[in-house]
Amino acid sequence: MKFTTSILASALAYFAVSVNAAPAGRSALDVWNPTITSPTAETVWIVGSTVNVTWSTANEPADVSNGGQVVLAVDGLARFTAQDLSPVFDLAAADGFYTVTVPDDIAPGNDYQVVLFGDSGNISPSFTIVATS
Ligand SMILES: *[C@@H]1O[C@H](CO)[C@@H](O)[C@H](O)[C@H]1NC(C)=O
Repeated sequence: MKFTTSILASALAYFAVSVNAAPAGRSALDVWNPTITSPTAETVWIVGSTVNVTWSTANEPADVSNGGQVVLAVDGLARFTAQDLSPVFDLAAADGFYTVTVPDDIAPGNDYQVVLFGDSGNISPSFTIVATS
């Protein structure tokens, strides 16, 4: 029940602040859209391997309201072809990385991108996926 307790604590904190005239438009939970730090344009993933998708936590607000999800996208013509690499997870608890497995059925290519969904979505530079040798 940790989750419920934390939401309740946040709600209580918000109402306490509201009573003390909080600036208009502030919400109790901040939406956060972190910047991907890996993969980069130099990244090469091997099909079937375990890799980390990482992002900056430098500007992480105290109360992150949104979940996260890592999705693999193909750039170019098939840009909107996408495949989930992770389930929806707790972005605040993930601490700047999520470990994923490069799908076995992915075709090698140099136009892959990772999308990290937070509030909207951050997209990585295009990077390469190669077959196992
Ligand atoms: C992912 O990052 C975590 C934390 O730095 C580390 O412990 C783990 O070994 C990394 N896994 C991979 C596959 O790089």
